[in-house]
Amino acid sequence: MPRKNIVFMVVLISLTSVLQSHASQRCRIDSYSIYQMMLKGHTFKTFKAQAGSLDCRHACLADIRCQSYNVVMFENLCELNNRSKEARPEDFIKSENRYHFGKVSERVPLASIPELPGYSCKEIKASEQEQAVSGNYWLDPIRSGNSILAYCDMETEIADYCVKHQCAEHAMCVNGDMKYTCAYIDECTEGSHSCHNDASCKNTAGSYVCTCNSGYLGDGFNCIPEECQNYKSLTTKTRNTKYFATSKEDLLCDNKLGPGWFRFQGAAGKVMPTKCISWKSCGTLRPGWLNGGHPRMEDGKVSRKVNFRSIDNCAFKTTTIQVRNCGSFFVYYLHNAPSGGCQRYCGTD
Ligand SMILES: *[C@@H]1O[C@H](CO)[C@@H](O)[C@H](O)[C@H]1NC(C)=O
Repeated sequence: MPRKNIVFMVVLISLTSVLQSHASQRCRIDSYSIYQMMLKGHTFKTFKAQAGSLDCRHACLADIRCQSYNVVMFENLCELNNRSKEARPEDFIKSENRYHFGKVSERVPLASIPELPGYSCKEIKASEQEQAVSGNYWLDPIRSGNSILAYCDMETEIADYCVKHQCAEHAMCVNGDMKYTCAYIDECTEGSHSCHNDASCKNTAGSYVCTCNSGYLGDGFNCIPEECQNYKSLTTKTRNTKYFATSKEDLLCDNKLGPGWFRFQGAAGKVMPTKCISWKSCGTLRPGWLNGGHPRMEDGKVSRKVNFRSIDNCAFKTTTIQVRNCGSFFVYYLHNAPSGGCQRYCGTD
């Protein structure tokens, strides 16, 4: 055997025993090293180590953010990285004077803690490979320094930022590429409000306000026409079409009535008659009846003619009034009966 080979064997044997003893001390592999390579652009901490020490390794193990590190040979500089070469293969490059070390044991999975947010689901998937499962992760896509919890679908690599949003109660969380936004719903224009038809709707932050239109009373969800609530009642039995005056002196005329909204109630009847009625009925000479019938509720406030009959003419005199259907009853806007002679508005059951 040539001399040169013997020297080489000795060196090889002694080197092997050193490595073996080193390995048994550690019990497990907590890192691997790659010569003349580095991960560029992910260093969050750089410091000088003591020559020949394990300072870089200890510092990486002690920092939860550390995913890998570079060692600059001869200068003894440690560069702690918050990404692994798996997460950022494009940044794993040649470097003549460096070693690259990957952290294996005790490496915290990327984006599993707020201190170590990922930039995207894709990056987490690259970093954790087979171990990457769909679930909640800490992300900071806009690199703001604030981590937000998001759900990563590892199939589609799409993040749902609305899993833990802080939008107001009435707002809607809308997912974006890098964050969520809160959409305030305009219930008024969207039509999801429950304001009454006769109310106006006003949008507010997170809600809306209903106000009854002028001429209506209520809380905005229920509005009733003012005249359905504020009216005077006509109740005397002499106003009923069944009543006939006993003498000429007893005849009554609507010469001082209203103007105002009236409702027929009690002995006077419920509504105005809608057909020509008997002459001299309802305690007057020329009784008045409603021409054109009663409106429906949805017709609102309508104009109608009231005809006052004479002995031989069902419409001897005429005036215009207003009528509204209040649901269970009617109201009439009445004023003095036409002048000349004796006329009166009548009620019927
Ligand atoms: C990760 O390292 C980069 C620099 O390489 C730094 O800008 C970033 O803030 C670090 N992220 C965290 C969460 O420390």
